Amino acid sequence: MAVPVQPDDAADTPKSPRYRLGGMGYQDAAGRRLSYASYLQLPELLSLQAGRSNAHDELLFIVVHQAYELWFKVLLHELEAVRSSLDADDLPEARHFLRRVKVIEQLLIEQVEVLETMRPPDFLDFRSQLAPASGFQSVQFREIEFLSGLKDRGYLKLVESAEERTVLEARLNAPTLWDAYQDLLARRGVRGAAEVYADQDRHRDLFEVSEGLLDHDEGFREWRSRHILMVERQIGNKPGTGGSTGVAYLQSTLDKRFFPELWEVRSQL
Ligand code: HEM
Repeated sequence: MAVPVQPDDAADTPKSPRYRLGGMGYQDAAGRRLSYASYLQLPELLSLQAGRSNAHDELLFIVVHQAYELWFKVLLHELEAVRSSLDADDLPEARHFLRRVKVIEQLLIEQVEVLETMRPPDFLDFRSQLAPASGFQSVQFREIEFLSGLKDRGYLKLVESAEERTVLEARLNAPTLWDAYQDLLARRGVRGAAEVYADQDRHRDLFEVSEGLLDHDEGFREWRSRHILMVERQIGNKPGTGGSTGVAYLQSTLDKRFFPELWEVRSQL
């Protein structure tokens, strides 16, 4: 439902100091009326797709990767909200954010198909100009892994700048979703996931959160498999621009689990 703008409502004041309230609604720092373009910072956003070649498909390639990074940003925001909700014993709220995480991850899996419309020779028209850039260096992707429970300091050497390393160090030192889940179980006097699954009626809310976490894990595993198929389709067994063996390296990541215990518990039922 559209909420009518209440310019004199203090709660409606944007967080950002970029805007101030004028007689006719919000204005930017230069006194211009807030618009669709200025609110979304579209001039800036749409000026960020300059490629390195004249190849037709480079625009698609850049936009798809940027869209992933924007969704990664939202995922991190939502996953942090899941962790805070678990810390606050607010399980319905944790479920709410986990449902959104699942839908976004489905979108990320579907989006792979857009890049598969690229014909391999068309990709080769500009691929050499990307090296040594690679998804390998996606800081937000590693942040999602680290926040979810899959911490691997080894990836720090792949990132280029001190700022990026600082961001990843902070994630390495911060509690994970798994830590928050285990603390929650401990507060409830539950010894482990097996106990939750052994009596799902008694632990209904914990059970639903556990399944929501598993959805997140499954979403990532599915994305990994889907990404590999696309990579194989585009470059076969060539090495990656990031310097790995390519498909062979990616296949070695398929065993990664955010919450191994939630997978193992199935076998124990
Ligand atoms: C034509 C399309 C693509 C190709 C050929 C490709 C290829 C590769 C290869 C070969 C790697 C292994 C690392 C390396 O040596 O470079 C890799 C890693 C990665 N790629 Fe892609 N990729 C493509 C599209 C994408 C897209 C759209 C994303 C979305 C963000 C993405 C995200 C990643 C991530 C996060 C990794 C690291 C995975 C890990 O270490 O577990 N890639 N990619």
